[in-house]
Amino acid sequence: MLELKEVSFTIRKDGEEIPLVDRASLHVPKGHFMAIVGPSGCGKTTLLKTIAGLNPESSGSLFWDGRDLSKDGDFSPSEIGYVPQFSIAYDPLTVDESVEAATRLRVRSRSTAELDQRIDLVLEETGLSSINDRQVKVLSGGQKRRLGLAMELVSDPKILLCDEVTSGLDPRSEREIVRLLHDLSRKDGRIVLSVTHSLAHLELYDSVLVLHEGRVAFHGPPEQLTHYFSVQDTEEVYPRLATQPSERWHNSWQKHRVSYQKMLDRNRERLLASGGLQIPSEKTPTSTSAPPAASAPTADDVEEIHAEAAIKSDEPSEPISKPKAEIPRLPGFFSQFSTLLSRRWRIFFRDRGQVFLQLAILICFPVLVTLFSDKASGNIRRFSDTRQADVFAEIQEQQSVRSDQAKVGSAVSGIIMFQVVLLSLMGSNNSAREIASERPIYEKEKFGGLRPSAYLASKIAFLSCLVITQSLWMAFFVNMFGTFRGDFIQHAAFLLLVNGAMTTICLAISSLMRTAEQASLLSIYLVGFQLPLSGAVLALPEKIEGFTRPFISAYWAWSGSVEALQTQVHDAVKSVIDTSLSSQNVCFYTLGAHIGVALIAAWAGACRPQWD
Ligand SMILES: Nc1ncnc2c1ncn2[C@@H]1O[C@H](COP(=O)(O)OP(=O)(O)O)[C@@H](O)[C@H]1O
Ligand SMILES: [Mg+2]
Repeated sequence: MLELKEVSFTIRKDGEEIPLVDRASLHVPKGHFMAIVGPSGCGKTTLLKTIAGLNPESSGSLFWDGRDLSKDGDFSPSEIGYVPQFSIAYDPLTVDESVEAATRLRVRSRSTAELDQRIDLVLEETGLSSINDRQVKVLSGGQKRRLGLAMELVSDPKILLCDEVTSGLDPRSEREIVRLLHDLSRKDGRIVLSVTHSLAHLELYDSVLVLHEGRVAFHGPPEQLTHYFSVQDTEEVYPRLATQPSERWHNSWQKHRVSYQKMLDRNRERLLASGGLQIPSEKTPTSTSAPPAASAPTADDVEEIHAEAAIKSDEPSEPISKPKAEIPRLPGFFSQFSTLLSRRWRIFFRDRGQVFLQLAILICFPVLVTLFSDKASGNIRRFSDTRQADVFAEIQEQQSVRSDQAKVGSAVSGIIMFQVVLLSLMGSNNSAREIASERPIYEKEKFGGLRPSAYLASKIAFLSCLVITQSLWMAFFVNMFGTFRGDFIQHAAFLLLVNGAMTTICLAISSLMRTAEQASLLSIYLVGFQLPLSGAVLALPEKIEGFTRPFISAYWAWSGSVEALQTQVHDAVKSVIDTSLSSQNVCFYTLGAHIGVALIAAWAGACRPQWD
């Protein structure tokens, strides 16, 4: 049983406390199908999130099966299913793949047969069996809602919260979904709470809760709705609500609450007696009073019910006892990790645009570097040991050698910087949208029991493959067609590190930003500033340089690579740059620190709840 006692959810705006849900109290017994209705913005989603534990209640208490959720911890992930307003499936996957991934992430299965059985059962229950091989992107609105439900039903939740799962559907699909939700509530005493703006098909619900400006204006049998609001038709309820402030609706509801609760109890008894609802271990109802008349209760009725309620309210509210059903256990870290990683690769390969872009970058960037590396392979002349007889000829010779040295030196330095910047660009392209673009789905999966550590580890594993391929291929290709005039391994290591650093920094940005657009923009700026702030091209004022340099990955990779050059080439580079170079060890550790700090930031971002 779910029970809310005076639950409020308040936000602070301009120093003022604004209640979005105000003192909501209700009982929802097992096997109950309840609609939460109300005009747009009245707080339906907020109430649902408060019940789910996504909005911490500001005051009041929530009880689930006699457990105080505020004190004893929230629902366990498999106990609760929450179908949000947005789609929780990935477009490129099929129905079957989506449900399979949801199952693998939420439920520990003993064998593949058990897993398949669970998936088949859920697909059957939601009427998706015949279209299980269809991609999510081609599904109709109604089918997508069914899929959303299927992905929640995999853990066989005891309470299912649905937010606007019928909105935007044609009347037939809407009725089918409401019917499906109704049927789901008849199974194993499952509670189904469905938020809807629509006032159609209310007869299928056991009760209707009307919210107005965050306050409960009514909670009773659907057939009593028009009577309570003194209207002819349910469609007139919203205009009627607008005629009074919510405080007045709330106050008058306090007077009638108990009598309507009584009606709900009686309806339930009848349903149980007729076999329309079966709850495995439901207690035999204690009340034997006659079913209520369809009309509103009389004043006497109300008084009698009030008196009964007063006696009852002294008794502690007993949870309906039920033998402890086996609660599905969450899969382990590695199981979640491998599910996410294989899903990520599948999504990657199904997205042709993304594969094409990655391949184009992989091929074109190194080609671009080799095209520009012609001058960098020029010969570096030494000053001749024998002195020229003529002083004038000697000066001319020295100038010519210096000019050649400068040409090759700046070409080598430029080409290294070019590689470093291109790899930074690849890094930002790899990860800037990685988390931000799927944040709502990730939040939903986290709510369902996904470990942030498994999620982040799967991202690191996926991105590492891209980083290693891109960096090593760049190093090999350029070395093959242009040759790096120094230690190849050291150079390759710095390319790998700069790509790794930029990829992890952009991953951190992606996990901290609210939207994918914000994350992309910030990452592009970050790459754009690498070149000017590195000091390799433009000499920076010392004060600025000292402040910015520690953060510029491109500088450290460039500096480390320059240090890996043969002495002669290294000297040539040094002769043309104003910037100081750092030792390879310092470069190595600084890039390592960039990766480390970025991983910590990405972890903090991944753990932080970010629903809206
Ligand atoms: N976290 C929040 N901060 C500020 N305002 C919010 C927040 N969440 C919801 N609201 C506001 O509270 C009201 C109720 O929102 P919501 O529960 O989404 O309404 P409904 O689902 O009934 O359409 C809206 O006016 C909405 O803008
Ligand atoms: Mg809403």
